[in-house]
Order: sequence, then structure tokens, then C-alpha cells
Amino acid sequence: MKKNYLLAPGPTPVPERVAAILGQPIPHHRTPGFEKTFAEVREGLKWVFQTKSEVIMLTATGTGAMDAAVSNLFSRGEKVITVNGGKFGERWTKIAKVYGLNAIEAKIPAGSAIDPADLAKLVDANPDAKAILFQASETSTGARMPVKEIVDLAKKKNLLSVCDAITALGVMDLPMDAWGIDVLITGSQKAMMIPPGLAFIALSDKAWEKSKTADLPRFYFDLAKEKKAHETNQTAWTPAISLVLGLAESLRMMKEEGLAEVFKRHETLARATRAAVEALGLELLAKKSPSPAVSAVVVPPTVKEGKKIPKLMRDKHGVTIAGGQDELEGKIFRLSHFGYCSPFDVTTGISCLELVLKELGHPVEFGKGVGAALKVFAEAGA
Ligand SMILES: Cc1ncc(COP(=O)(O)O)c(C=O)c1O
Repeated sequence: MKKNYLLAPGPTPVPERVAAILGQPIPHHRTPGFEKTFAEVREGLKWVFQTKSEVIMLTATGTGAMDAAVSNLFSRGEKVITVNGGKFGERWTKIAKVYGLNAIEAKIPAGSAIDPADLAKLVDANPDAKAILFQASETSTGARMPVKEIVDLAKKKNLLSVCDAITALGVMDLPMDAWGIDVLITGSQKAMMIPPGLAFIALSDKAWEKSKTADLPRFYFDLAKEKKAHETNQTAWTPAISLVLGLAESLRMMKEEGLAEVFKRHETLARATRAAVEALGLELLAKKSPSPAVSAVVVPPTVKEGKKIPKLMRDKHGVTIAGGQDELEGKIFRLSHFGYCSPFDVTTGISCLELVLKELGHPVEFGKGVGAALKVFAEAGA
């Protein structure tokens, strides 16, 4: 018998309360009952996005909301600045280019966070740019970007700030209205604790205004059409009904915990993971500015085939983490610590890592990583 544990940065585990709802018979969506649930979800989404704006729900994965952000905001040939700190930053550039935008890329080394001063220089060199597109948490490298500083810069230079918070929203504090973030995006299979299939995007008044003159083609992802439908507790197209019911429950769970507690829990889980990694003599890829959602760990030189770490953890022990992507394949592995995650998910992941490192010839004193994590939890009263 092998018991499975999901410790990957998406999809993340689905709470039992939510899973029970997902298995219920499907209701029809054009009914008073579903509209009532959707009204609750709309209110809950505004709460978690910390905004008064409508949060548009799309039936898509997170990339669908990134695509929608570009196609609804811009016109062909417009210039945008993209922050490329890894695979997902690169995705902004790719989407912008597909739509015929002039994407000026701020490419930074894997694991680093953009320096706001460098970004300011690029903005000054491109006074005709319309927006900065960036990640709050670059999942491929485990780096946390300086969101507030980027948003402040965008405001100062009259650019739109477009933030992919797919592994950040509901993990760290991103008060959309208080900070003046123009576009904020997330996906369902991350901190929202439901399966993949829904994407969420909120626009500030300034972003809605800009979208009125955007001439890029769009049909399914027409945000103005969705907004109009949402305002009467409807969706433009058939929504992923079961996921919406599950989302109502996961939002209730978040409300029961409280937003501040949600952020605090994630910060503690991240600190414990980092302490464990360090205690095992391993290094983080994003040392200076690590994400509270995911820790990317550099494969030690003692392990010749880095890809074997996540493979053995999954295939032999049932613990699914993530490896590195593209040029980071075999060079890093990524431990997730967000969503439906508690201290014992972290200690499970770390204990399995200790076992596998030993199996692969890395010197390990069993319990050293787990002990370091437990110390953080005890001190935090977690
Ligand atoms: C930061 C970030 N952006 C975008 C995406 C893409 O989301 P999806 O795979 O849901 O389309 C992911 C997925 O992991 C992500 O972590």
C-alpha cells in the first residue's frame, strides 16, 4: 500500500469539506439556487482579492486569465514591459507577442527578484510603454517579486500594473485596492484549494477604462461581457458548476481562518521549510527573496541525477513535489507549502526528502531537517 501526498505548487490538495461538495449531483446554473451560491462566491472573491471591483471568474486555468488580461487591455502594436524571472514571466512575453504587442522584456537571473531601480530605468527608456506585466511569486524559481514597489513605480509613471498572483493570492498580503494594483490574477488549483478549471481576474477602474479602447480580438474571454453577467449573478457561458460550489466552501474555510491568519500560516510554513532545507546543508535558489508559496532547492553536487529526487519521492514513497522546468530541470526541486497545507505536510515532505537524499548518496543525519522545521513551528505556536 502506498499513501499519496500532494506537495506540488499546483494542483494543491483539496480539503475534505470541499471534495465532499465536488461529488454532489450537479445543479443547473440558470437557477435561483446556483445564483445564490454565485452571489456568495462573488462576495468572497472580492474579500480575498481585497477589492471593491468585480472579480471576474473564467472557466479556464490561470493562463486563461493571463491571456484575457492582454487581449482585454491592449491594442495591436502597443508596448508593454514584462518581467521575466522564469517560466511564468516568460509566458507574459509570449502572450504579448502572440497578440502583436511590442514586449520589452526585463530578464533577470533565475531565482532573483527584479530590482525596482533597474525596472525604473527600463521604464524611463520606454516612455511609450502602457503597462508592467509581472508575477508576485515566480513559481518556477521560488522567487518573490517586490509587488508594492512595482505597483508604486507603475502608478508614478502612469502605467498599468498587471500582476500574475497565481501562486501568491491567498498566500501573501496583496491588498489590491489599498496598493492600487490594476490587474490581479489567480487560478483555482492554488491557494483557492479547489481543482484546476477556474481562473480569476480583477481590474481597477483605470484598467476597465483602458479596456474600453483595447482593440485586440477576444470572444470567449470578453471581460466586459462577463462583468455584465456577473452583476446579475450569472456567467456569460456555462461555468464549471461543481468547482463553483467547491469554491464557495473553500472561501468559507478561508473566512473562518481569517485573511491575516492565512498569510501568517503560509509565512510560518515557508520559514519552517527554509529552516529544514538549510539544516540539511542545502541551498535555496531564491535566497534573497523567497516565495512564501514554494521553495526551490538547488540539487546538491553529491546527487548526480537531480531529476531522481522528485521521481523517487513520488514513485517510491508517494510524495509528489515538483522538479525544475526547462533549463532548471535536474538542477532544482520545488517543495510547495501553500493552500490546504499544515505543519505536518511540511514535515512529511522534509522527512521523505531526507530519506531520498540518503538513498541517492547525500550525507544525511536523519531528523535534522524535520527537527529544524518543528523548532520553527513550536516557536510560532503553530
Ligand atoms: C505564477 C504562475 N503563473 C501562471 C501559471 C499558469 O497557470 P495554469 O497552469 O493554471 O494555466 C502558473 C502555474 O503554475 C503559475 O504558477
